[in-house]
Amino acid sequence: MSSHRHHSRPAPDPQAAADFETWLERQRRRVEAALDRWLPPEDQPPQIIHRAMRYSVFAGGKRIRPILCLASAEAVGSEAPGVMEAACALELVHTYSLIHDDLPALDNDDFRRGRPTCHKQFGEAMAILAGDALLTLAFHVLARAACPDGAARARLVEEISAAAGTPGGMIAGQVEDLEGQGRTPTAELLETIHRAKTGALLTASVRMGAICAGAGEEQLEALTRYGRHVGLAFQIVDDLLDVEQSTETLGKTAGKDARQKKITFPAVYGLPASHRMAEQEITAALREIESFGERARRLRELALLVLNRSK
Ligand code: IPE
Ligand code: IPE
Ligand code: MG
Ligand code: MG
Ligand code: MG
Repeated sequence: MSSHRHHSRPAPDPQAAADFETWLERQRRRVEAALDRWLPPEDQPPQIIHRAMRYSVFAGGKRIRPILCLASAEAVGSEAPGVMEAACALELVHTYSLIHDDLPALDNDDFRRGRPTCHKQFGEAMAILAGDALLTLAFHVLARAACPDGAARARLVEEISAAAGTPGGMIAGQVEDLEGQGRTPTAELLETIHRAKTGALLTASVRMGAICAGAGEEQLEALTRYGRHVGLAFQIVDDLLDVEQSTETLGKTAGKDARQKKITFPAVYGLPASHRMAEQEITAALREIESFGERARRLRELALLVLNRSK
Protein backbone atom coordinates (compact mmCIF):
# COMPACT_ATOMS: atom_id res chain seq x y z
CA MET A 1 0.00 0.00 0.00
CA SER A 2 3.05 2.24 0.01
CA SER A 3 2.07 4.19 -3.11
CA HIS A 4 -1.08 5.36 -1.36
CA ARG A 5 0.52 6.55 1.85
CA HIS A 6 -0.36 9.97 3.21
CA HIS A 7 0.77 12.14 0.30
CA SER A 8 -0.69 15.23 1.90
CA ARG A 9 1.06 14.81 5.26
CA PRO A 10 4.59 15.96 6.07
CA ALA A 11 7.27 13.26 6.09
CA PRO A 12 7.49 11.73 9.58
CA ASP A 13 10.37 12.88 11.72
CA PRO A 14 12.64 9.81 12.26
CA GLN A 15 13.32 10.80 15.88
CA ALA A 16 9.60 10.97 16.66
CA ALA A 17 9.00 7.67 14.85
CA ALA A 18 11.68 5.94 16.94
CA ASP A 19 10.25 7.45 20.11
CA PHE A 20 6.79 6.15 19.18
CA GLU A 21 8.19 2.67 18.47
CA THR A 22 9.83 2.62 21.91
CA TRP A 23 6.62 3.79 23.58
CA LEU A 24 4.56 1.21 21.68
CA GLU A 25 6.87 -1.64 22.66
CA ARG A 26 6.73 -0.53 26.27
CA GLN A 27 2.92 -0.49 26.29
CA ARG A 28 2.83 -3.94 24.65
CA ARG A 29 5.06 -5.31 27.38
CA ARG A 30 2.96 -3.69 30.13
CA VAL A 31 -0.26 -5.12 28.69
CA GLU A 32 1.27 -8.56 28.22
CA ALA A 33 2.64 -8.62 31.76
CA ALA A 34 -0.82 -7.73 33.10
CA LEU A 35 -2.51 -10.37 30.92
CA ASP A 36 -0.01 -12.92 32.17
CA ARG A 37 -1.03 -12.16 35.74
CA TRP A 38 -4.76 -12.58 34.98
CA LEU A 39 -4.59 -15.77 32.94
CA PRO A 40 -4.46 -19.03 34.94
CA PRO A 41 -1.08 -20.78 34.66
CA GLU A 42 -0.71 -23.62 32.15
CA ASP A 43 -0.05 -26.17 34.85
CA GLN A 44 -3.33 -25.40 36.61
CA PRO A 45 -5.95 -28.11 36.01
CA PRO A 46 -7.68 -28.52 33.69
CA GLN A 47 -4.39 -27.75 31.93
CA ILE A 48 -5.70 -28.12 28.39
CA ILE A 49 -7.99 -25.08 28.58
CA HIS A 50 -5.35 -22.86 30.18
CA ARG A 51 -2.84 -23.92 27.55
CA ALA A 52 -5.35 -23.12 24.78
CA MET A 53 -6.18 -19.71 26.28
CA ARG A 54 -2.52 -18.77 26.64
CA TYR A 55 -1.66 -20.17 23.21
CA SER A 56 -4.00 -17.67 21.55
CA VAL A 57 -3.43 -14.69 23.85
CA PHE A 58 0.38 -14.89 23.71
CA ALA A 59 0.71 -15.42 19.99
CA GLY A 60 1.99 -11.94 19.19
CA GLY A 61 -1.09 -9.82 18.51
CA LYS A 62 -0.53 -6.11 17.89
CA ARG A 63 -2.47 -5.17 21.07
CA ILE A 64 -4.03 -2.19 19.27
CA ARG A 65 -7.19 -2.14 21.40
CA PRO A 66 -5.52 -2.13 24.84
CA ILE A 67 -2.95 0.39 23.64
CA LEU A 68 -5.67 2.69 22.27
CA CYS A 69 -7.33 2.44 25.68
CA LEU A 70 -4.13 3.47 27.46
CA ALA A 71 -3.44 6.29 24.99
CA SER A 72 -6.97 7.61 25.32
CA ALA A 73 -6.58 7.76 29.10
CA GLU A 74 -3.31 9.63 28.59
CA ALA A 75 -5.04 12.13 26.30
CA VAL A 76 -7.49 12.98 29.09
CA GLY A 77 -5.21 12.98 32.15
CA SER A 78 -2.50 11.06 33.94
CA GLU A 79 -4.58 9.38 36.68
CA ALA A 80 -6.75 6.60 35.31
CA PRO A 81 -7.49 3.95 37.94
CA GLY A 82 -8.65 0.69 36.37
CA VAL A 83 -7.29 1.48 32.92
CA MET A 84 -4.97 -1.53 32.74
CA GLU A 85 -7.82 -3.87 33.68
CA ALA A 86 -9.95 -2.22 30.99
CA ALA A 87 -7.10 -2.71 28.51
CA CYS A 88 -6.75 -6.39 29.45
CA ALA A 89 -10.50 -6.99 29.20
CA LEU A 90 -10.48 -5.54 25.68
CA GLU A 91 -7.66 -7.80 24.54
CA LEU A 92 -9.35 -10.85 26.12
CA VAL A 93 -12.63 -10.14 24.32
CA HIS A 94 -10.78 -9.46 21.08
CA THR A 95 -8.76 -12.69 21.29
CA TYR A 96 -11.92 -14.69 22.02
CA SER A 97 -13.53 -13.11 18.95
CA LEU A 98 -10.57 -14.18 16.80
CA ILE A 99 -10.67 -17.79 18.06
CA HIS A 100 -14.36 -18.06 17.26
CA ASP A 101 -14.01 -16.11 13.97
CA ASP A 102 -11.52 -18.75 12.80
CA LEU A 103 -13.71 -21.78 13.61
CA PRO A 104 -14.80 -24.01 10.72
CA ALA A 105 -18.40 -22.84 11.18
CA LEU A 106 -17.34 -19.20 10.76
CA ASP A 107 -14.36 -18.20 8.57
CA ASN A 108 -12.66 -21.61 8.73
CA ASP A 109 -9.08 -20.36 9.02
CA ASP A 110 -5.96 -22.43 9.69
CA PHE A 111 -3.57 -19.63 10.63
CA ARG A 112 -3.76 -16.82 13.13
CA ARG A 113 -1.07 -14.61 14.62
CA GLY A 114 1.56 -16.61 12.75
CA ARG A 115 0.62 -20.03 14.06
CA PRO A 116 -2.06 -22.69 13.60
CA THR A 117 -5.45 -21.47 14.78
CA CYS A 118 -6.64 -22.52 18.23
CA HIS A 119 -8.96 -25.22 16.85
CA LYS A 120 -6.18 -26.62 14.62
CA GLN A 121 -3.95 -26.93 17.65
CA PHE A 122 -6.43 -27.99 20.35
CA GLY A 123 -9.51 -29.20 18.46
CA GLU A 124 -12.83 -27.46 17.97
CA ALA A 125 -14.34 -28.20 21.36
CA MET A 126 -11.36 -26.72 23.24
CA ALA A 127 -11.23 -23.71 20.91
CA ILE A 128 -14.90 -22.95 21.56
CA LEU A 129 -14.34 -23.30 25.29
CA ALA A 130 -11.11 -21.26 25.25
CA GLY A 131 -13.05 -18.44 23.58
CA ASP A 132 -15.82 -18.74 26.15
CA ALA A 133 -13.29 -18.71 28.97
CA LEU A 134 -11.49 -15.60 27.66
CA LEU A 135 -14.78 -13.74 27.32
CA THR A 136 -15.74 -14.76 30.85
CA LEU A 137 -12.34 -13.78 32.23
CA ALA A 138 -12.72 -10.32 30.69
CA PHE A 139 -15.70 -9.65 32.95
CA HIS A 140 -13.92 -11.10 35.97
CA VAL A 141 -11.03 -8.69 35.35
CA LEU A 142 -13.43 -5.73 35.13
CA ALA A 143 -15.17 -6.81 38.34
CA ARG A 144 -11.75 -6.55 40.03
CA ALA A 145 -10.67 -3.30 38.34
CA ALA A 146 -9.11 -0.60 40.52
CA CYS A 147 -11.84 1.92 39.70
CA PRO A 148 -12.93 4.43 42.35
CA ASP A 149 -16.22 2.59 42.95
CA GLY A 150 -18.64 -0.06 41.75
CA ALA A 151 -20.50 2.42 39.55
CA ALA A 152 -17.29 3.11 37.62
CA ARG A 153 -16.72 -0.62 37.14
CA ALA A 154 -20.33 -1.06 35.97
CA ARG A 155 -19.77 1.70 33.42
CA LEU A 156 -16.86 -0.23 31.91
CA VAL A 157 -18.94 -3.42 31.84
CA GLU A 158 -21.71 -1.53 30.06
CA GLU A 159 -19.29 -0.24 27.43
CA ILE A 160 -17.56 -3.51 26.63
CA SER A 161 -20.70 -5.65 26.70
CA ALA A 162 -22.54 -3.32 24.33
CA ALA A 163 -19.56 -3.22 21.95
CA ALA A 164 -19.02 -6.98 21.98
CA GLY A 165 -22.66 -8.03 21.79
CA THR A 166 -25.80 -7.27 19.85
CA PRO A 167 -27.39 -5.14 18.47
CA GLY A 168 -24.71 -2.98 16.91
CA GLY A 169 -21.75 -4.74 18.47
CA MET A 170 -19.24 -7.35 17.40
CA ILE A 171 -21.66 -10.31 17.44
CA ALA A 172 -24.19 -8.39 15.35
CA GLY A 173 -21.44 -7.59 12.86
CA GLN A 174 -20.22 -11.18 12.72
CA VAL A 175 -23.78 -12.36 12.01
CA GLU A 176 -24.18 -9.86 9.17
CA ASP A 177 -20.73 -10.70 7.85
CA LEU A 178 -21.65 -14.39 7.66
CA GLU A 179 -25.13 -13.78 6.28
CA GLY A 180 -23.69 -11.37 3.72
CA GLN A 181 -21.39 -13.98 2.17
CA GLY A 182 -22.38 -14.39 -1.45
CA ARG A 183 -25.01 -11.63 -1.26
CA THR A 184 -24.87 -8.47 -3.35
CA PRO A 185 -22.43 -6.20 -1.52
CA THR A 186 -24.10 -2.83 -1.00
CA ALA A 187 -22.32 0.19 0.43
CA GLU A 188 -24.87 0.46 3.21
CA LEU A 189 -24.57 -3.15 4.38
CA LEU A 190 -20.78 -2.91 4.14
CA GLU A 191 -20.60 0.04 6.52
CA THR A 192 -23.07 -1.56 8.93
CA ILE A 193 -21.01 -4.76 9.08
CA HIS A 194 -17.68 -3.00 9.56
CA ARG A 195 -18.89 -0.56 12.19
CA ALA A 196 -20.36 -3.42 14.20
CA LYS A 197 -17.87 -6.27 13.84
CA THR A 198 -14.75 -4.16 14.34
CA GLY A 199 -15.59 -0.49 14.86
CA ALA A 200 -17.62 -0.98 18.01
CA LEU A 201 -14.84 -2.63 20.05
CA LEU A 202 -12.25 -0.12 18.83
CA THR A 203 -14.55 2.75 19.78
CA ALA A 204 -15.14 1.13 23.17
CA SER A 205 -11.36 0.88 23.64
CA VAL A 206 -11.01 4.62 23.29
CA ARG A 207 -14.07 5.33 25.43
CA MET A 208 -13.06 3.01 28.26
CA GLY A 209 -9.65 4.64 28.58
CA ALA A 210 -11.27 8.07 28.62
CA ILE A 211 -13.86 6.99 31.19
CA CYS A 212 -11.14 5.64 33.52
CA ALA A 213 -9.35 8.99 33.25
CA GLY A 214 -12.53 10.87 34.18
CA ALA A 215 -13.22 12.49 30.81
CA GLY A 216 -15.88 15.19 30.69
CA GLU A 217 -18.86 14.83 28.36
CA GLU A 218 -17.34 16.92 25.58
CA GLN A 219 -14.01 15.12 25.71
CA LEU A 220 -15.75 11.76 25.65
CA GLU A 221 -17.82 12.80 22.63
CA ALA A 222 -14.75 13.94 20.70
CA LEU A 223 -12.85 10.76 21.55
CA THR A 224 -15.87 8.66 20.56
CA ARG A 225 -15.90 10.31 17.14
CA TYR A 226 -12.14 9.68 16.86
CA GLY A 227 -12.77 6.04 17.79
CA ARG A 228 -15.50 5.61 15.19
CA HIS A 229 -13.26 6.94 12.42
CA VAL A 230 -10.28 4.86 13.51
CA GLY A 231 -12.52 1.81 13.92
CA LEU A 232 -13.89 2.04 10.40
CA ALA A 233 -10.42 2.72 8.96
CA PHE A 234 -9.10 -0.31 10.86
CA GLN A 235 -11.43 -2.72 9.08
CA ILE A 236 -10.98 -1.01 5.67
CA VAL A 237 -7.23 -1.57 6.07
CA ASP A 238 -7.83 -5.16 7.27
CA ASP A 239 -9.78 -5.76 4.04
CA LEU A 240 -7.01 -4.15 1.96
CA LEU A 241 -4.30 -6.19 3.65
CA ASP A 242 -6.25 -9.38 2.92
CA VAL A 243 -5.92 -8.52 -0.80
CA GLU A 244 -2.49 -6.89 -0.89
CA GLN A 245 -0.36 -8.49 1.80
CA SER A 246 1.28 -11.92 2.05
CA THR A 247 0.12 -14.69 4.39
CA GLU A 248 3.61 -14.71 5.89
CA THR A 249 3.54 -11.02 6.85
CA LEU A 250 -0.08 -11.10 8.02
CA GLY A 251 0.29 -14.26 10.10
CA LYS A 252 -3.16 -15.23 8.77
CA THR A 253 -4.22 -16.57 5.36
CA ALA A 254 -4.31 -13.80 2.76
CA GLY A 255 -6.81 -13.63 -0.07
CA LYS A 256 -9.59 -15.32 1.86
CA ASP A 257 -12.23 -12.61 1.66
CA ALA A 258 -12.63 -12.84 -2.12
CA ARG A 259 -12.66 -16.64 -1.99
CA GLN A 260 -15.38 -16.56 0.67
CA LYS A 261 -17.27 -13.79 -1.15
CA LYS A 262 -17.14 -11.49 1.86
CA ILE A 263 -18.62 -8.01 1.73
CA THR A 264 -15.47 -5.89 1.92
CA PHE A 265 -14.35 -2.38 0.96
CA PRO A 266 -12.27 -3.61 -1.98
CA ALA A 267 -15.26 -5.69 -3.20
CA VAL A 268 -17.58 -2.67 -3.14
CA TYR A 269 -15.27 0.23 -4.05
CA GLY A 270 -12.10 -1.29 -5.51
CA LEU A 271 -8.58 -0.86 -4.16
CA PRO A 272 -7.70 2.80 -4.93
CA ALA A 273 -11.00 4.17 -3.57
CA SER A 274 -10.72 1.96 -0.47
CA HIS A 275 -7.24 3.35 0.22
CA ARG A 276 -8.57 6.88 -0.14
CA MET A 277 -11.48 6.16 2.17
CA ALA A 278 -9.22 4.72 4.88
CA GLU A 279 -7.10 7.83 4.60
CA GLN A 280 -10.13 10.11 4.83
CA GLU A 281 -11.28 8.33 7.98
CA ILE A 282 -7.88 8.85 9.59
CA THR A 283 -7.78 12.52 8.58
CA ALA A 284 -11.23 12.92 10.16
CA ALA A 285 -10.06 11.08 13.29
CA LEU A 286 -7.09 13.43 13.67
CA ARG A 287 -9.33 16.46 13.34
CA GLU A 288 -11.49 15.27 16.23
CA ILE A 289 -8.59 15.29 18.70
CA GLU A 290 -6.91 18.54 17.67
CA SER A 291 -8.15 20.33 20.79
CA PHE A 292 -6.38 17.82 23.07
CA GLY A 293 -2.97 19.16 21.99
CA GLU A 294 0.23 17.37 22.99
CA ARG A 295 -1.53 14.93 25.35
CA ALA A 296 -3.16 13.25 22.34
CA ARG A 297 0.15 12.68 20.60
CA ARG A 298 -0.03 8.90 21.03
CA LEU A 299 -3.60 8.78 19.75
CA ARG A 300 -2.40 10.65 16.65
CA GLU A 301 0.47 8.26 16.14
CA LEU A 302 -1.83 5.26 16.65
CA ALA A 303 -4.30 6.56 14.06
CA LEU A 304 -1.47 6.78 11.51
CA LEU A 305 -0.28 3.31 12.51
CA VAL A 306 -3.76 1.90 11.84
CA LEU A 307 -3.58 3.43 8.35
CA ASN A 308 0.01 2.57 7.43
CA ARG A 309 0.49 -0.81 9.12
CA SER A 310 1.67 -3.73 7.04
CA LYS A 311 -0.11 -6.37 9.17
C1 IPE B 1 -7.94 -8.69 13.41
O1 IPE B 1 -7.62 -7.80 14.41
C2 IPE B 1 -9.42 -8.87 13.36
C3 IPE B 1 -10.16 -7.66 13.04
C4 IPE B 1 -11.08 -7.19 13.82
C5 IPE B 1 -9.90 -6.96 11.79
P1 IPE B 1 -6.10 -7.32 14.63
O2 IPE B 1 -5.52 -6.93 13.30
O3 IPE B 1 -6.07 -6.31 15.71
O4 IPE B 1 -5.40 -8.67 15.10
P2 IPE B 1 -4.21 -8.92 16.15
O5 IPE B 1 -4.78 -8.73 17.50
O6 IPE B 1 -3.09 -7.96 15.86
O7 IPE B 1 -3.81 -10.34 15.90
C1 IPE C 1 -13.08 -10.26 12.09
O1 IPE C 1 -13.10 -9.79 10.81
C2 IPE C 1 -13.77 -9.42 13.04
C3 IPE C 1 -13.87 -10.08 14.34
C4 IPE C 1 -14.80 -9.71 15.14
C5 IPE C 1 -12.94 -11.12 14.76
P1 IPE C 1 -12.25 -10.69 9.83
O2 IPE C 1 -12.84 -12.04 9.68
O3 IPE C 1 -11.98 -9.90 8.59
O4 IPE C 1 -10.88 -10.80 10.66
P2 IPE C 1 -9.62 -11.61 10.15
O5 IPE C 1 -9.25 -11.03 8.82
O6 IPE C 1 -10.02 -13.05 10.09
O7 IPE C 1 -8.59 -11.30 11.20
MG1 MG D 1 -14.71 -12.96 9.91
MG1 MG E 1 -11.80 -13.95 9.71
MG1 MG F 1 -10.13 -9.74 7.58
